[in-house]
Amino acid sequence: MPRRSTRLDPYVDQYAERTSSMTVSAVRALFAVANRPEVVSLAGGMPNITDLPLGTIGDAFNDLVRSAGVQAMQYGSGQGELFMREKIVEVMAEEQIHANPDDVVVTCGSQQALDLVTRIFIDPGDVILCEAPSYVGALGTFNASQARIHHVAMDEHGLLPDALRTAVLALRAEGARVKFLYTIPNYNNPTGITQTLERRRALLDVAHEVDLLVVEDNPYGLLTFDGDPVPALRAMDDQVIYLGSFSKTFAPGFRIGWVLAPHAVRERLVIAQEAAVLSPPVFSQFAIAAYLDRFDWRGQIVAFRDMYRERRDAMLRGLEDHMPAGTTWTRPTGGFFVWVTLPEGLDSQALLARAVNERVAYVPGSAFYADGFGGRNLRASYCFPTAERIYEGTRRLGRVIAAELEMRATFGLGAETPLHRPGLGPAPDLS
Ligand SMILES: Cc1ncc(COP(=O)(O)O)c(C=O)c1O
Repeated sequence: MPRRSTRLDPYVDQYAERTSSMTVSAVRALFAVANRPEVVSLAGGMPNITDLPLGTIGDAFNDLVRSAGVQAMQYGSGQGELFMREKIVEVMAEEQIHANPDDVVVTCGSQQALDLVTRIFIDPGDVILCEAPSYVGALGTFNASQARIHHVAMDEHGLLPDALRTAVLALRAEGARVKFLYTIPNYNNPTGITQTLERRRALLDVAHEVDLLVVEDNPYGLLTFDGDPVPALRAMDDQVIYLGSFSKTFAPGFRIGWVLAPHAVRERLVIAQEAAVLSPPVFSQFAIAAYLDRFDWRGQIVAFRDMYRERRDAMLRGLEDHMPAGTTWTRPTGGFFVWVTLPEGLDSQALLARAVNERVAYVPGSAFYADGFGGRNLRASYCFPTAERIYEGTRRLGRVIAAELEMRATFGLGAETPLHRPGLGPAPDLS
């Protein structure tokens, strides 16, 4: 009889090297706790889709199955259905992007778009430049491909073009292969910061100067609260690889996103897509096209903007009313997130258990850095709870921070005695 392994995981020696950099994301670990109804979760990034007209959407899907079910439930094109790509081009025109449906690849959410772009460009050890901080899901994908992530600083106007130039030149001088810049110019996840038009121009100038590919991730672009969206980077430069998604402007469950890429890149993406999933979900493409055809989707986006604006206002009001002195935060003009910087010496990760005890959850800032920074930061999202709950969440959070400050004062731990974790030094002021 074969001897049974006494190890917890008998396959531990057999996993691919790349799995060593795959770790459970802080967001996932949090969901279990944060989903308890008594906790105000400022942690997740789930869109609030409760106001979608589900009855009429249901009727449209019913018609779809009856009239086109045979095609909608069949395999499809690896690039995505032509009608879907045409619709995507129409959606992108809202952000002044003019494109050809032939240059679009439909993906399983923009998360898979990130994965495909990474697959076709990255060998182990290649460098990807990312804003500091950056979307945790992108960092996970980049890590899984064994890329070396190098963060580039940003301020309240977005990524710093000079820091980008310096980073590229320094990395190349040491022999690194720098493959692309990953940036979220609109309502960055996690900071909520939007690159100004001048910044975008300067960033593209630097990218040209040093011959650097730019990957623009823009799932929140149309969710602007205070005026028109700033033109996308791709609207200013057709060499930019652009990632889009229906997750925040319609619903994430369909898992439909896309990549718009220069022609040669697009060809490789389609091959990678076929190897990954044969074809992106055909039924979802039919369903989304039916929604776009039969509903006032632009009107729905305006309704989403109004709803998220009210929630953003509730969060900013709550932070203003409840945060102890020394706490700062960003003031987003769209999207889902506020980035909070705690008073010096405080550690958002260490504080989380106490926060959950006080029935409020957030994501610690270090989740958004590949290098352990962000210890004094946290991401507070205002997309999912109601305005009243968000306000209450900030009240609870304020109490937690105040109690920690009081405890530190009692024990004589001043700002000059930070806990010994990286990232707890001076935090960049993004507010
Ligand atoms: C910046 C960013 N990119 C990509 C994604 C992935 O979105 P999806 O795969 O649902 O399109 C998200 C989701 O939160 C995000 O915030």
